[in-house]
Amino acid sequence: MEFKHLLFSVEEQIATVTINRPKALNALNMELLLELTQLFDHIKNNASIQAVVLTGSGEKAFVAGADISEMQSKTAPEAKGFSTIGNELMSKIENLPQPVIAAVNGYALGGGSELALACDLRIASIDAKLGQPEVTLGIVAGFGGSQRLPRLVGPSIAKELLMTGEMITAERAYQIGLVNHVVESDALLDKAKSIARKMISNSIIGIQASKKLVNEGFEMDIQRALSLEAETFGMMFATEDQKEGMAAFLDKRKAQFKAK
Ligand code: CAA
Repeated sequence: MEFKHLLFSVEEQIATVTINRPKALNALNMELLLELTQLFDHIKNNASIQAVVLTGSGEKAFVAGADISEMQSKTAPEAKGFSTIGNELMSKIENLPQPVIAAVNGYALGGGSELALACDLRIASIDAKLGQPEVTLGIVAGFGGSQRLPRLVGPSIAKELLMTGEMITAERAYQIGLVNHVVESDALLDKAKSIARKMISNSIIGIQASKKLVNEGFEMDIQRALSLEAETFGMMFATEDQKEGMAAFLDKRKAQFKAK
């Protein structure tokens, strides 16, 4: 597949998606949002891809936000439409069956922070900076930041970030649970890929069901969510993976899961 602003490769069933608009610090314009939507649709329907690593090109930025020069002249209905398209993309990534790991290689601001938030987990390079600076531009977060950030770090810290507009360091992002790991810049992609490899060495049905349970459970009250877990737990016992996984444990050998 050919894209104007994206690089895409697949190795050992792990796709690497690189946002490649370095002159604008990988800012998300409409064209880029549509390319990402098309690519994630392709990934969703491609059973040979088991995990995705999402990163930005260049050393400076993951994504420095939605494209301010493109947004500047939007009317209120146009801006609402832009936010809707961005939100649909973020939900598509969040609900992708495969795990998606953000490798945050520099600035992740505004829509860039929101893109990272839509991923299942985030690894940051030591010099990454994250934040929601929308209020400094006279707007609010538009790609899910006001909703996913408080769900991840709690409302109090989320409000501080959303209302001061200040950037935080990778280390601070780690302290508040916004990123899972902080590594040296040159180790970032290796770290993200090694987590992806570890995930997909397990039962693919199991990892995809675990992702779905966490996502869907957050939208439910605890009793319904626990019923959903019990139902899914039961369904797993009708899979080859459960038979192989438990037999392998009892045989003291490594499980060979089939659905790869
Ligand atoms: N949109 C459009 N262009 C951007 C951009 C953005 N979000 N961020 C950076 N750029 C462009 C700059 O305009 C500049 O272009 P030129 O070379 O043509 O002048 C180029 O990228 C390099 O940027 P800087 O010269 O500003 O680089 P710097 O090192 O001095 O600063 C920065 C880096 C702190 C990230 C700074 O670029 C910055 O503050 N960017 C904007 C961050 C921001 O406010 N993001 C939120 C956008 S709103 C949003 O995302 C809404 C939403 O929720 C959907």
